[in-house]
Amino acid sequence: MDLAKLVSVMVDRDVLLSDISGPGRAPKRRVGLVQIPTTAGTGSEVGTRALVTDPSSLNKVAAESIEMLADIAIIDPVLTISVPADVTAATGVDALAHCVEAFTSKRAHPLIDGYALQGIELVGKYLARAVKDGTDIEARSGMALAAFYGGVCLGPVNTTAGHAVSYPLGTRHKLPHGLANALMFPHVLAINEPAVPEKTRQVARALGLADYNGVEGLRDASVAFCASLGMCMEIGSYGVPEADFENMAAEAHTIRRLLDWNPVDLSRQDIHELYKAAS
Ligand SMILES: [Fe+2]
Repeated sequence: MDLAKLVSVMVDRDVLLSDISGPGRAPKRRVGLVQIPTTAGTGSEVGTRALVTDPSSLNKVAAESIEMLADIAIIDPVLTISVPADVTAATGVDALAHCVEAFTSKRAHPLIDGYALQGIELVGKYLARAVKDGTDIEARSGMALAAFYGGVCLGPVNTTAGHAVSYPLGTRHKLPHGLANALMFPHVLAINEPAVPEKTRQVARALGLADYNGVEGLRDASVAFCASLGMCMEIGSYGVPEADFENMAAEAHTIRRLLDWNPVDLSRQDIHELYKAAS
């Protein structure tokens, strides 16, 4: 879907990705754009952003423009029925991360908070069911709505540290976006808790996590939530070597467009510790 957004503004134009990266630089779109998600995760179908990995720098390049907003988004949960369980789990946690990160962002907004909380509740209610039985259309519908709400959160508020620290797992070690986010989600939730304790409690409640005891309890409960969906929650098991944590932390730390809105100001060392906690 992100590629289609880029194609829709670049087709028949003599422009490079570098010409349109960043906010508001895409030329006027002259073709129609329809977006149809086939997973319940990114919510990109209702967004104005396209994210692409630059193969030379391995950085994620974000282009953002109202010109890349679809004319029509068709969200049909039937299209997600054949998504395998592992992809259902990872993309579902990506949708969850969109809601949680927007909800706890420094630029959170009450209007978006409503969508975020409903998205989190839907994930708590339906993700395990969709993983267990892909043909459970009620669960697939709930997750399609959750992903859509997550997408709504991305436009005006966007993600924070969870996505920033996940990007190097994708760009440097080729982990799928949803999985990378799922692996880092519990650790970012925990490190942010002291800055946003009440909102974190609301997240845990909406997700249906049992009462947790302190930050470590929260981390354990959210790791258990992801593990219960069938995910191995250790980044080392996906071939991410500890020797690269320093480079990954350096790369993530430069993603100011996300990190500047995180409720806690994370240093490179903090990010390195997050990777260790996830290993
Ligand atoms: Fe995401």
